[in-house]
Amino acid sequence: MNAQESVVLVETRGRVGIVTLNRPKQLNALNDALMDALGEALLAFDADDAIGAIVITGSDKAFAAGADIAAMADWSYMDVYRSDFITRNWETIRRVRKPVIAAVAGFAMGGGCELALACDIVVAAENAKFALPEIKLAMLPGAGGTQRLPRAIGKAKAMDMCLSARVLDAAEADRYGLVSRVVPNERLHDESIALAARIAGYSLPALMAIKESVNRAWESSLTEGIGFERRQLHARFASDDAHEGMHAFLEKREPEFRHR
Ligand code: HXC
Repeated sequence: MNAQESVVLVETRGRVGIVTLNRPKQLNALNDALMDALGEALLAFDADDAIGAIVITGSDKAFAAGADIAAMADWSYMDVYRSDFITRNWETIRRVRKPVIAAVAGFAMGGGCELALACDIVVAAENAKFALPEIKLAMLPGAGGTQRLPRAIGKAKAMDMCLSARVLDAAEADRYGLVSRVVPNERLHDESIALAARIAGYSLPALMAIKESVNRAWESSLTEGIGFERRQLHARFASDDAHEGMHAFLEKREPEFRHR
């Protein structure tokens, strides 16, 4: 398959893996072929020792305009139930243990917004627009939107977005905590990759433990989460990199992490 036909483009930059959603004519509408390919690319980077962090991005105009409405329009309940729509391929991202950054320019609508929400860090270009407009189709933000959005920005703002299809610009999304940082449009690519490269330079098992711990905060009580975190902290003392990191600090030199 050549680059024009590939629904995702995959490249590496040092220890950073980059996946670019590539259905520009459909504003990167997320069909099964794209979600299968995205999942495959993510799992391949996750399994690759040479990769420490992953960036998912789209075009200057659209991160993704949502699930592919043309594909879905005539599906029946039995079609989606039997094929386990969404769970089957969209949720592959939940299995990725390395940090994943969404670099979002333009539209992040519906499933596009939900995909960004499933990433660990969201870097938004100033032209980014976030919405869950499924209600306009009499549908529902069913790729995690009704669950991750309230956890990210609180019930009041999430209800407003889900029930009224309100569109947030990048500044609002930043203010509400939907995105991690906003950068000028022309800097999105470089800043996102630089952030991923910085992260990928740290000890991979420490990054994985932190990601797992922060995710646990979403899904458990404080007591349970603190208990989980404490075990992760104790486990750091079994890591070569943690000893290297602390000794390097004391010896006033750069650490040499071996990701062990
Ligand atoms: C399929 C889509 C699409 C989508 C855009 N296109 N979004 N095709 N699925 N989600 C197609 C258009 O049909 C059009 O094709 C081309 O991309 C360009 O789009 P335009 O509408 O002409 O562009 P523009 O006027 O700039 O408007 C951009 C837009 C609008 C505001 C993002 O396209 C839009 O509202 N899209 C739908 C957004 C949406 O409802 N998303 C939620 C989907 S449901 P042609 O062939 O005419 O050029 C969802 C549910 C997920 O995500 C949860 C699980 C089900």
